Amino acid sequence: MKRVLVLDFGGQYNLLVARRVRECGVYCEIKPYRMTMDEIRAFDPAAIIFTGGPATVFEPNAPQLDPAIFSLGLPILGICYGQQLMIHQLGGACHKADVREYGKVELTHDGKSELFHGVEPTSVYWMSHGVEVERLAPGFRVTATTAGCAFAAIEDAQRKLYGVQFHPEVLHTVHGMEIIKNFLFRICGLSPEWSMASYVTEAVEECRAKIGSGRVLLALSGGVDSAVAAALLYKAVGEQLTCIFVDHGLLRKNEGDEVEAAMKNALGMKIIRVDAADRFLGKLAGVTEPERKRKIIGEEFIRVFEAEAKKIGKVDFLAQGTIYPDVVESGAGGESVVIKSHHNVGGLPDHVDFKEIIEPLRRLFKDEVRALGIELGLPEKLVWRQPFPGPGLAIRVIGEITRDKLAILREADAIFREEVAKAGLDRTVNQYFAVLTNLRSVGVMGDERTYDYTVALRAVETQDFMTADFSRLPWELLDTVSRRIVGEVKHVNRICYDVTSKPPATVEWE
Ligand code: XMP
Repeated sequence: MKRVLVLDFGGQYNLLVARRVRECGVYCEIKPYRMTMDEIRAFDPAAIIFTGGPATVFEPNAPQLDPAIFSLGLPILGICYGQQLMIHQLGGACHKADVREYGKVELTHDGKSELFHGVEPTSVYWMSHGVEVERLAPGFRVTATTAGCAFAAIEDAQRKLYGVQFHPEVLHTVHGMEIIKNFLFRICGLSPEWSMASYVTEAVEECRAKIGSGRVLLALSGGVDSAVAAALLYKAVGEQLTCIFVDHGLLRKNEGDEVEAAMKNALGMKIIRVDAADRFLGKLAGVTEPERKRKIIGEEFIRVFEAEAKKIGKVDFLAQGTIYPDVVESGAGGESVVIKSHHNVGGLPDHVDFKEIIEPLRRLFKDEVRALGIELGLPEKLVWRQPFPGPGLAIRVIGEITRDKLAILREADAIFREEVAKAGLDRTVNQYFAVLTNLRSVGVMGDERTYDYTVALRAVETQDFMTADFSRLPWELLDTVSRRIVGEVKHVNRICYDVTSKPPATVEWE
């Protein structure tokens, strides 16, 4: 399968660039711009895209490329910094722009570039730059301009070198996808070959080749990623895979049974389910501080997993459901580094005897993981579940965690989720759940005074969970949920809706 290399200069949209290319059905990978020419040749790309980046191209120490890259004869698309770099290195010049363009800008192209084939002459594009091309390199010509930028798009069609100052990968660029498709299909001559069906065959073969007759151990968390990783590995190596599902007693209503049933019924897979609720709740007794809770759960998870793994004996591989954004964000994939602080339960177990880690999803985006799950036969309900934090309900019961409080929260949360789904909002709202606050207040039920808990409802819409907006849920829905929870769940007499976005709040309350 032909693939595209996305060379990363640290731009904030680098993941989006790769995302869009794959949406076109073309496989691509993000790599740091520091990749050597030998590595690039070994990767054997059909085309190269340079992303944007924060550096100023003419300053000392700004990222540069080996000029040999321009002699490979491969089509190249430079975006923002990528365009500036191409011009800078090929004999043109860039300078600080008089006006810094940021946001939506009207752009007009000359109708003569393949890159803009079928795109209306003038429309809205997304710009974000303070540096621009000042003088073209030999062989190049301008194909589009804006009021503030004389070199909004450029090309040397003969050498198949294209540059754009705008960001086609950002949805605000109205015809961005068409421009990316024009590059991939019309200019590079690629065809959409990347699909989940083709990926399954390829990934299964790859896993088989790597694992051979070895044994694989995987920790199921109840989340989508580990379930899909398990399904893929099971298809590849069947009973050589052992899955341990540590039920920490902090899952949502019926969740443990649902996950177990899905793996068993849909795939015929056996899993070892460890009921460790007593251990976890014992360790958490009296603990109120959020970070302590998280730490205890992370550590305990590893201990329980290790104890189970010991019973199995030596394994060859430890499988993990790491996905592509984790790889790139941790700095291993591309150039951009975003430190994830509290995600994923714990670290790696120290006392499990294995020789290698296997991460069968490390090249997939979240929605590709979901598509893969469906392709492998996992039920929609499991594949489309919303994110659920590793520490589970422990960080949604504010203050001390008790079995009684967990029971109250489970019921309230189940009602909220049921009603959101009934209203048809379960795929548009990205995460929605109940929180049991530590606050009790006075109410009246029948003729009686009550003194019971307040439940908070949280629902957010977000692309990446780094920032999030609270969902404007319909009043009628909130009304129904509020009535049902107070009517059906004992010890709750008041419901609040969280109307803060992230930042300044976080999605979770702890
Ligand atoms: P915050 O609360 O940081 O949450 O705005 C952002 C997203 O991350 C999830 N989250 C976690 N996921 N382990 C996880 O696996 C954790 O410790 C954890 N804490 C938060 C949260 O549910 C939201 O989707």
